[in-house]
Amino acid sequence: MTAVVIVGAQWGDEGKGKIVDLCTEHADMVVRFGGGPNAGHTLVVGNDKLVVRLIPSGILRPQTTCVLAQGMVIDPSSLVGELDELELRGHVQVRKLVVSDRAHAILPYHVLVDGLREQGAGAIGTTKRGVGPCYEDKAARRGIPLGALRDRARTARLVATAIEAWTPTIRALGGTPPVADEIIAKLRPLADRIVPLLADTSKLVERAVRDGKKVLFEGAQGTLLDVDHGTYPFVTSSSAVAGGACVGAGVGPTRIDAVIGLAKAYCTRVGGGPFPTELTEAIGDRLRKAGDEFGSVTGRPRRTGWLDLPALRYAVGVNGLDGLAITKLDVLTGLDTLQVCVGYRTAAGVSDDFPIDGLDGATPVYETLEGWKEELAGARSLEDLPAAARRYVAFIEKHADCPLAIVSVSPKRDDTIVLKSPFDTVRA
Ligand code: GDP
Ligand code: IMO
Ligand code: MG
Repeated sequence: MTAVVIVGAQWGDEGKGKIVDLCTEHADMVVRFGGGPNAGHTLVVGNDKLVVRLIPSGILRPQTTCVLAQGMVIDPSSLVGELDELELRGHVQVRKLVVSDRAHAILPYHVLVDGLREQGAGAIGTTKRGVGPCYEDKAARRGIPLGALRDRARTARLVATAIEAWTPTIRALGGTPPVADEIIAKLRPLADRIVPLLADTSKLVERAVRDGKKVLFEGAQGTLLDVDHGTYPFVTSSSAVAGGACVGAGVGPTRIDAVIGLAKAYCTRVGGGPFPTELTEAIGDRLRKAGDEFGSVTGRPRRTGWLDLPALRYAVGVNGLDGLAITKLDVLTGLDTLQVCVGYRTAAGVSDDFPIDGLDGATPVYETLEGWKEELAGARSLEDLPAAARRYVAFIEKHADCPLAIVSVSPKRDDTIVLKSPFDTVRA
């Protein structure tokens, strides 16, 4: 096994940072293939906590090359800010960072438009980092690949063209279009820092995979936020599913050896959009507090709810998951009983399918499982878990129809039950 994709199987924040950091112990390369500074991946090592946004979660491992691939959208000021923070904290491995010259630049007008739209009736609760408008520019063929930063005159021309295109929208939203010269002036010192990191990462990644190096592809967001497969239009603007790793990093599907999907033992969602198993009463607050469910990018309280197994099975299908990592099982400790959504009742009857385009007219059907009282941190094998917790994960494995690979029982690296390392996940 050399090329392994790790993706979120829910609405993001499943613990990708923790699991990617853990698995990177055995990886030569970690590649972010989509999204941008809307992501917030938390790494906890000892008492040290680090949240990375653009930089891959492999950054704490000295031997690992970290790649920001061309499917990403990158705000130069965020990237330089993150690099400065990492260097301040003494993570010298930042030197092993490579950035695609085809990744697109998020510039101030993208952030402005994102923010203005979020003040209006069409708001969906974005992270306001300019991610959506930047992908719009890319699809409209007027985006600015980071490679353009090598050429000041070209950058200036592209910025001027983009501002001209966005001006009617900005005015209609009640904003003031930015001044191109100011953007260019601020961009210059950032470009000086970024240009030396630029490369054709597609070639680099493809060669690493071909040479049998261990490469991890780190998803951002989650399946239900994917622009094609998520709860549209309440989604992000990029590919968050496993297929996105091929497109966003530039490797063919035949090169991917395994796909691991991450799901919390319950569900969360930040921002607007359908969330059928949402808990709005006290128990939802309890999960939020126990799970520290506050956005790692925006600090927003995350909406919380029971585990949705039809949604998880949907994610197993869309991503072709070979293994499942269940995170935050410890957060459920202390609840007498646990509800789990096993199906949906719609006008057509009860089905165990996830009715992704009919969620408004669908009611979750629950099964009740027994809870447990014991603390789980410290568990290193399934046998260390209380019997009810073991039954809970076995129930998930059966209903998700995907083998369990990892169970995580605290934010820390060591508090993890690894049944099968992603690099050993052999496809049947
Ligand atoms: P990501 O976006 O998927 O990387 O996830 P985030 O970092 O945004 O959010 C996950 C949060 O859960 C972080 O604060 C992690 O430190 C934390 N976390 C990860 N795994 C576990 C776990 O098994 N138990 C607990 N209690 N927290 C966890
Ligand atoms: P990680 O990688 C959770 C959500 C936003 C909003 C929608 C669109 O940490 O799991 P955007 O700013 O992307 O245009 O917002 O997507 N969203 C996330 N939610 N985790 C994330 O990333 C997210 N990235 C975007 O809250 O609902
Ligand atoms: Mg996150």
